[in-house]
Amino acid sequence: MVRPKDRVLSGMRPTGKVHLGNHLGALDNWVTLQDDVDCFFFVANWHALTTDSSHTDEIPGATIEMAADWLGAGLSPERSTLFIQSQVPEHAELHLLFSMVTPVGWLERVPTYKEMVEQLGIESPSYGLLGYPLLQAADILMYKAKYVPVGVDQVPHIELTREIARRFNGAFGQVFPEPEAKLTEIPKVPGTDGRKMSKSYDNCIYLADPPEVITPKINTMVTDPARKRRSDPGNPEVCPVFDFHKIFTPAPERDACAVGCRTAGIGCLDCKGVLLQHLLPPLAEIRERRQRYVAKPREIVDILREGSTKARSVAQATMEHVRQALGIEP
Ligand code: TRP
Ligand code: SF4
Repeated sequence: MVRPKDRVLSGMRPTGKVHLGNHLGALDNWVTLQDDVDCFFFVANWHALTTDSSHTDEIPGATIEMAADWLGAGLSPERSTLFIQSQVPEHAELHLLFSMVTPVGWLERVPTYKEMVEQLGIESPSYGLLGYPLLQAADILMYKAKYVPVGVDQVPHIELTREIARRFNGAFGQVFPEPEAKLTEIPKVPGTDGRKMSKSYDNCIYLADPPEVITPKINTMVTDPARKRRSDPGNPEVCPVFDFHKIFTPAPERDACAVGCRTAGIGCLDCKGVLLQHLLPPLAEIRERRQRYVAKPREIVDILREGSTKARSVAQATMEHVRQALGIEP
């Protein structure tokens, strides 16, 4: 059970515009959480350097775009603390101290490390990449977060965080509570080509997309491959368009589409038309709000700066406690 004063923390690397997969898989859930618990959400811009430290010039703009999407989706600086990792340098100090109690083998065994190295074809992984989950542990434990809303792919990082907390507490006294992953129920969000929605596949619908961009993306989206002609019956259960219906279209109309599909009573364009009626309005609302922020990037910078000041005072209190527990100064 999540209780009112429980603290929740999560972060995203600044990869730029948020797509519908990120939104439904994480952001939308953050927006809901901020009504009930004490939320800290941050831009993991140091983490962005772990896989590519040569394109730093893209990070400031990507931070603004991503934060605009957060605000557009409904994160509110009055209800949540929104901040930038690098503006709370205490994270680096805690990461350093954690690195002293962490066997290298633990980090080498984290599955995302190998995956990143293989998927991105990194020839010579950096020390920072190996330490990625340790920096994440510092992000989380700094705020003594009880819950960390993340997708399943991040569970090994939360597990490691718990081990680090135990190890640190064992060595220096009870400092950190053990956090729990709060698994977000992630709906299946396919991209326009039917594969998982992902920036690297170039198959995304972005929160920043206006209706005139979303409409053709949906209209050309892959459907049940067996339904070649209008007269062929289809199977909604294997159709990526129908995955969207499950998220956006109310049951009666969705069921009507499914029947129409199976009986070849409707064509795919009709079916997509129904989807667009339910998909476009909520996205338009988010987009209009995000565009108002994008037009005033200074305002976004100020929101993140104020949030970082707030986060930093929590971080400083934690570090006071940590330094005392460590006790290495005369
Ligand atoms: N590793 C997370 C991701 O790729 C981002 C992240 C960094 C994070 N620090 C965090 C998430 C702390 C939750 C808590 O999505
Ligand atoms: Fe998919 Fe709809 Fe076409 Fe059926 S009618 S294949 S559910 S797009």
